[in-house]
Amino acid sequence: MVGLGPKKAPSRKGSMADLPHDLMQEIKRLEDLFVVDTNKLKAISDHFVSELEKGLTKEGGDIPMNPTWCMGFPTGYETGTFLALDMGGTNLRVCEINLPEEKGEFDIIQSKYRMPEELKTGNADELWGYIADCLQQFIEYHHEGEKLDKLPLGFTFSYPATQEYIDHGVLQRWTKGFDIDGVEGKDVVPPFEKALEERGVPIKLTALINDTTGTMIASAYTDSEMRMGCIFGTGCNAAYMETCGNIPKLAHMGLNPDDQMAINCEWGAFDNEHKILPRTQYDVIIDKESPRPGQQTFEKMIAGLYLGELFRLVLVDLHEQPQVKFFEGADISPLKKPYSLDASFLSDIENDPYENLQETHDIFVNQMGIKPTRPELELLRRLAEVIGTRAARLSACGVAAICKKKNLKTAHVGADGSVFNKYPHFKARGAQALKEILDWETGRDGKPLGKGHDPVEILPAEDGSGVGAALIAALTLKRVQEGHHAGIRDPQGMLKGTAAAKPASNQV
Ligand code: BGC
Repeated sequence: MVGLGPKKAPSRKGSMADLPHDLMQEIKRLEDLFVVDTNKLKAISDHFVSELEKGLTKEGGDIPMNPTWCMGFPTGYETGTFLALDMGGTNLRVCEINLPEEKGEFDIIQSKYRMPEELKTGNADELWGYIADCLQQFIEYHHEGEKLDKLPLGFTFSYPATQEYIDHGVLQRWTKGFDIDGVEGKDVVPPFEKALEERGVPIKLTALINDTTGTMIASAYTDSEMRMGCIFGTGCNAAYMETCGNIPKLAHMGLNPDDQMAINCEWGAFDNEHKILPRTQYDVIIDKESPRPGQQTFEKMIAGLYLGELFRLVLVDLHEQPQVKFFEGADISPLKKPYSLDASFLSDIENDPYENLQETHDIFVNQMGIKPTRPELELLRRLAEVIGTRAARLSACGVAAICKKKNLKTAHVGADGSVFNKYPHFKARGAQALKEILDWETGRDGKPLGKGHDPVEILPAEDGSGVGAALIAALTLKRVQEGHHAGIRDPQGMLKGTAAAKPASNQV
């Protein structure tokens, strides 16, 4: 695997020397608002540790710390054929995954379906109907004319869900701008299964999983040092493996205290009490205008869905301040539309390779009809940098907190999501922040930091919502076949009439 050691973004200090006084002052103000120094990072991650603990208690706290009933890591020798369904924010993806005998191998076929924007704020029947239609199409296309036993499915449902069993999940609340009536507070599995039955689709849901748990398990399939799965995308979150004896809220279940259970932290909800995060006036507006004010405080400061909106709110504010000359005389109406800029807009600005910021200039002219002056371009670039850097540094606080809680001195962390994969310098800025929080002076075995030697490394993950979902379905069936029924709603029903009942095709 490739190491992701700190790589410094070039400084633009020289080009800022000639800025007019008012813009210079604004840049200074924005830096004061958005730059998070080492001491603050340390304080945030210490508070984070205590909030992770609190979430595991019976009383609970801001961070839900949801038990997932995914009990243990894969060995690499799981086998069988599984379907996986990923209900992401933009697309719906259906995969068929074959886990062959060879350690850590897999074959995958997949189809993507667009998730219509209207569905995200529509009604529950339309949602389940649409998903079942996509699954039906997939099966008809890939298994035309075959007589099928029910195929076991791992469903990646990336929203906070309370799970008393792995094959059920009560949606706690929608996140990432979803707002579909009649789903929150209810088990999402029965209406999903009903929609499949109505269409005669031969599928049996085996496991409902979170994308972070899938990411951790998929990455652990090929890397035995994996300890955590993170998503830095439209939303953000992490999962890690906890010892059952350390989960007081499951004490009544009589589980073996030494057993392992993946915890879906739902850390996007960190600091909903507003005790420690350095929120700006712009973060306050994002929260107030969102469909769920008061929720996902941490996520709203760092996830891809909100980065462009933060940037936009600052620009509109600068334009409206009488003492600042910013986009003077320009018609900024396109910029006034909420969520009109996405994170890729900031990525493009940060990626602008030209000294005179020509690409940033062109992006504004083409997409907004606004022609920024050279000093304005300098401010735009610096603003994108401070927003992107804050996101990476705050994200590192969560990773560091889990390391501290679990006393991990070295670890690999599997990460996925559009911000992690595409946002410029996100990986290097995160690695730099981890180094500051965890006080590293040298890398593993006394080697220099970076170049793959950092004690804790955040690495690109394997496909969590495809391979990870299949593996969790395989691990669940194995538990049922071995008679370990804790956390499974209907163990006999899970095997009855499914392809999984035949050890030859789904041996684990
Ligand atoms: C959801 C999590 C999910 C994360 C990343 C958050 O908004 O609540 O369940 O893991 O986004 O997709």
